[in-house]
Amino acid sequence: MNLSGGIFWHGRAWRSQAAWHQTCTEIATALAGCEHASSELLLIGASAGWMMSSNWLQGFAKVDTWDIDPLAAPLFRWRHGAALKASDCALTCHRSDAFANLEQLLQDRPNACIFFDNVLGQYRFHCADPDQASENIAHLVRRLRGREWGSLHEVYSGPVERPRGQHRLPAMQRRVQGTSDSAALDQHWFEELGATGEWLDHLTSSVFPEATLVHHIAWPFKPDTCHWLQLGWVRH
Ligand SMILES: C[S@@+](CC[C@H](N)C(=O)[O-])C[C@H]1O[C@@H](n2cnc3c(N)ncnc32)[C@H](O)[C@@H]1O
Repeated sequence: MNLSGGIFWHGRAWRSQAAWHQTCTEIATALAGCEHASSELLLIGASAGWMMSSNWLQGFAKVDTWDIDPLAAPLFRWRHGAALKASDCALTCHRSDAFANLEQLLQDRPNACIFFDNVLGQYRFHCADPDQASENIAHLVRRLRGREWGSLHEVYSGPVERPRGQHRLPAMQRRVQGTSDSAALDQHWFEELGATGEWLDHLTSSVFPEATLVHHIAWPFKPDTCHWLQLGWVRH
């Protein structure tokens, strides 16, 4: 069973389009600000691209998507294929474990940039041991040194006090910094989200290097549950 995608993900994403609209708009705005030097993109954890912006993808000459879900490729083509064809972007959708094959993917496409599309925060669900999951994520990030890459991922998720669907969701940008100011900002952000109870750590808080400009985006995953997303782009 696919714990981070598959039929249940597609069903939820389909039904939640209105509730997630603001989140998707924030993601599209953040992506529009990610200036990429490469014209070739590897999109990891693409699924159907329910939360991905066609506009941003149209800025590439070549897009290769990767997902373990057999439904991902046909649904991604259905959602983004026409827009990419209209902008002469060559789209190829692969079904494969991109983490297991990352080394080969990077070697085969030395000039491509890489975007982890809401998949690094899911990694802990695919790895029985959280310490091992943290170590593997850190190893993956080290392997990206020297490459142009970005990621959208959950940092934390958990219950919120009141349904947020009807309200304007908070959003902010800030640079990664390891100071107590950062802890205070985190606390403020939790309050803005209406966080209550226990939140799950998705083991991604150290993914971006110091000084990376990161967009913090609220995702009202369910009426009573919110996910804190981060989106950043790293250029070397
Ligand atoms: C939360 S969904 C991503 C949502 C997607 N970016 C969108 O906008 O619809 C996470 C996706 O990552 C995929 N995934 C999980 N592990 C993977 C792996 N090792 N390689 C490739 N894809 C993976 C899952 O199948 C799932 O489709």
